[in-house]
Formats: sequence, structure tokens, C-alpha cells
Amino acid sequence: MAVPPEFIEDLRQRVPLSDIIGRRVKLIRKGRRFSGLCPFHSEKTPSFSVVDDDGFYHCFGCGVHGDAISFLREMDGLDFMEAVERLADMAGLAMPKSAHIDPAVTKKRKAALDILEETTLFFEASLRDPVGRDAAHYLKQRGLDAATVKNFRLGYAPKSGLRRRLADKGFSDEDMLLAGVQRKSDRDGSLFDYFRDRVMFPIENRQGKVIAFGARALGDAQPKYLNSGDGPTFSKKAVLYGWVQARDAVRRNLPLVVVEGYMDVIAVQRSGVAAAVAPLGTALTPEQISLLWKLHDEPILCFDGDAAGQRAQLRALERILPVLEPGRSARLAVLPAGKDPDDVLSASGAEGLRKILGAARSLIDSMWAAVAEQFDVQQPEARAQFWQSVRELVRSIGHNQVRGAYGDEVENRIAAMRSHTRGKTTAFVARRTARPQTGLMQRHRAILALILAHPALVPANFEALSMLETADQPLDQLKKAVIDAVIRDPDLDAAALNYHLQGSELGRVVEDLTGDEMKSRLPFDPHALAPDRAVAHLEELLGLVDGKSGLFSKTRTPR
Ligand code: UTP
Ligand code: MN
Repeated sequence: MAVPPEFIEDLRQRVPLSDIIGRRVKLIRKGRRFSGLCPFHSEKTPSFSVVDDDGFYHCFGCGVHGDAISFLREMDGLDFMEAVERLADMAGLAMPKSAHIDPAVTKKRKAALDILEETTLFFEASLRDPVGRDAAHYLKQRGLDAATVKNFRLGYAPKSGLRRRLADKGFSDEDMLLAGVQRKSDRDGSLFDYFRDRVMFPIENRQGKVIAFGARALGDAQPKYLNSGDGPTFSKKAVLYGWVQARDAVRRNLPLVVVEGYMDVIAVQRSGVAAAVAPLGTALTPEQISLLWKLHDEPILCFDGDAAGQRAQLRALERILPVLEPGRSARLAVLPAGKDPDDVLSASGAEGLRKILGAARSLIDSMWAAVAEQFDVQQPEARAQFWQSVRELVRSIGHNQVRGAYGDEVENRIAAMRSHTRGKTTAFVARRTARPQTGLMQRHRAILALILAHPALVPANFEALSMLETADQPLDQLKKAVIDAVIRDPDLDAAALNYHLQGSELGRVVEDLTGDEMKSRLPFDPHALAPDRAVAHLEELLGLVDGKSGLFSKTRTPR
């Protein structure tokens, strides 16, 4: 049982030593080196040193010296194979088969691959044959052309005939069972074709060899999709459907999307909007995430906009965060409720899908919004729970530097939220002494008009905005609604914000503030302002800087 040296070298390249050791020892970067207190002897000043580039640690105090594997052996008492497995796990790599299996098994695997190839040819031919007429019609009606069918090697599994064909080619029953194309009847032990009367989706490995099948029922037969079980050629959790075709598309600089179904992969690829892959009916595994990153630094994961999709987003986040690496990330896109990418393409074409992918949110924004969604952040105890959950997710990040960067970002956002609420309370206390000011109401209306057009300005001005006390109830409610919306979703643009507000009881106030009457009273057109001009106006209106333009002074200067 030997592990190829290239595999261990690959692991060393993928998992920086400072990551492995950083889980146990607090390390501080000093140029190319990291230093910390030696875990192998007791000391007060750090003499333990780690260098990622050469992959070794060394203690100048006690003299211990070693690499990733020796560290895991010494610290965790693992044996060599266990240490390699732990590293492979951290790198999101499957252990090489040769480490586990002997030549006899390799031979079996080869036979299974040959059977799967022969079976694919048979299914492809059956689709062109009269026996596959209904299947061919079905694929056509779902919008697939001949080139796509060929590219994905789609086929039809007839009700019978495969076993005969494989036997004629000299394959043994035992190997057919191993390849998963035959099953043994529980009743009498006889063999039967596993896939019958179904549209066949061959699943290929990264070398383009067929290693399994997905199979869709033509009508309402159950289950809708039937998949090969795990076997010598196939481990469901380490494969992404459509990988080879996606690699070609990524080379043409298309974004990469992760979808749920076979049909979605094919429809998205065919649309030319993006490369697409799908896990096989499971939540993303670490192996699959690392496969994604081989293709693209920032794949876009697609989720159904319904409640189940929201839960799925959180599950996906929980899976990605622990394996995040510097420079590697993901974005999350939300589809209309109840629709998959294939549906979107049929309903609104390439443009429709492009729009949805363009609105995909960064990982941190998705995380923040997905967790905020679970709590009523108006309530202090729920707010505290929200912060706790976000921090918990950040703690799950395995990589030190990435965890640190996320921690900083999240703490900033929490601080902004806190100053926002503190602002509310102070403003409440201060209200009694507030004096009516000339033009105050009009100034507040202008501020609202401005942030409705530029919601991105809200976070930097939480405090000042919260302190604004408006006698006008609806105006005050609108201000709170805008701030809350931006806290929930810092990425919110003007269009989305207005859409969100139009649907609420504040719609009328929004209309009032964006209507012609208001425009004629403002010395600027909020929507036409460049961001830097908008900042300047907002700061002036909030009284954060001295007014130079004389906006809303008693004698208004003309434009
Ligand atoms: P869906 O039921 O959403 O199907 O399952 P779909 O992909 O939209 O298929 P069409 O458009 O009706 O043909 C999504 C994915 O979940 C897995 C398959 O991978 C499927 O593509 N699945 C679904 C199964 O493995 N088994 C099933 O019975 C159903
Ligand atoms: Mn579908």
C-alpha cells in the first residue's frame, strides 16, 4: 500500500504548512516565515518557526524539525497513512486509488470502464434507432439539438438488449454487475438491465471516460432520475457532472455555474452564457469544491428562490467556509422561486440567465444576508443571536488568514449595526430638546431622495442617518426601512431597493420622493449624480461638513 510521491508533493503544494500548524499554534507572520510558541516544548518566547515555501518547521529552542506529515504524526499520533489521509482531506482530494487497491482491482476497474464505454455506444446507437424514437422526440422537445446530444453523449436505454450485446463482446456477468449496468434479482438471482426505457446521461471523469450514468424516465415513471451506485469506477461525492465540457467553456473565459440537475448543466452550456457543472443529487462535498476551484476561482452557485433554496444556501455556505483558501471563493445566485436554470432559459432566454448570474452576491454578502434572514434583527436578543451565528460561521473557516479577513469584515458590519441602534436610542433621548428648524423637513426629504438613489451610501452614514429625527412619521419610517434593508443586504442597488419598498405600505412615500414635484424642488437629480457627488451632497445635508453650496439654506441658490 504505497502512496505515489507526486501525490504527497501535490498535498504539500495545496495545503500550506502554516495552515496545518496554525490550527494548533498561534502563528505570527514575519516576512516569509511564521513564528510562534513551540508546541513540542514549553516556552515563553517564540522560537518555533514555519516556512511555507519549503514546507518545514523548526524550533530553535528544542531543535524539533519536520514537515506536514511529521507534524501530524507527532501532534495527533497519526500513522503515516492517516496523516496523508488527513492532508488529502484538508486539500479536498480523494486518496489515489493505488494507495488502496491492488493490481487485481485495477484490472477489474479497467473491465468496468470498458463495459461502460461499450454501454454508452449502445445507448447512443439506440437513440438513433427506431426503438429510441420517443426518447429522441423527448430530447428534441426539450430543446436539445444533435450537436448537444453528441457532445454530452446522450442516449436511450431500451427495455432490453444490453446484456446480450455485452455478452457478445465477451464481458463476464461479474464485470457487468461491477460496472453497475446489470443488477441481480432479489427473487431468483438472475441478472437484469438496470436502466430500462430511459434517457441516458453518461457521467464522465476528468479524462472524459464514462464512469457512471444518470437516467431520466421518459414519462412519469418513478423515480424520475435513476443513478449508478458507487463502484470501482465511481464515487458519487468526488464527481461533478459536465466537468470536461465545462473546462472547455471556462477556457473560453465564460463564468462557471453550479446547478442541480443534468438538464440544467446541458441547457446552460448550450446557451453559451456560462460553463456549468452539477453535483450528483447531493450537497457539495469538499472534493467537489476542490474540483470547482480547479476550473474557476469563483464559481457561481445557483439556488432556487424558495424556502428550501434558502436552507440550501446555508448548507452550501457551511460546506464551503471550512475549505476556503486565499483567492478562492464562490458567489451565490438566486433563481426565481420554483425555477431551475433550464426553466429560466426557456422562459427568458440567455439574457434572463445572464441577469440572474450578474446579480450573484459575494460569499460574505450571501452569508450575511442568509443568516440575517433567519432573525428578526429589530429585536435586541435576536440581533445578538444573529451576530453569534455569523461569528460561528466565520470560526468554521479553516484557513487562518481567510478567517482573519472574514472576522474583520464581520466585526465591522456588526459595529455598524450597533452604532445604528445606539443612534436610535440617543436620538430618542435628544428628541425633547430638538428645536424645529427652517427647511428641516425639506432637508430630510432630500436626504431620503438621495439614499433611495444611492443606497450604497447608507453603511458609511448609519450613525448620522439614525440620529436624524423627523417629525414626519412616514418619512421616519421610510428612513428606518431603508437602513434595515441595507443592513440585510449591503449589495442592494437603487432598483432593488425601490422595488422592495414599492411593495410595502411605504410605496406612496417613495413615489412622492421620486416624483416630478420633488425633482423640481431639488437642486440636483439624485439618480443622475455620480457617486462622489452624491457623497458630498449627503454629507452636507447631514451636517457632517460645512455647506458650501448653500443647499436648503433659507435663500436657496439657483442651480
Ligand atoms: P429535479 O427533480 O429538479 O429535476 O432534480 P430536473 O433536473 O429539473 O429534471 P427535469 O428538468 O425535470 O428533467 C434535480 C436533480 O436531482 C437529482 C438529479 O441529479 C436531478 O437532475 N435527482 C432528482 C435524482 O438523482 N433522483 C430523482 O429522482 C430526482
Ligand atoms: Mn428541470
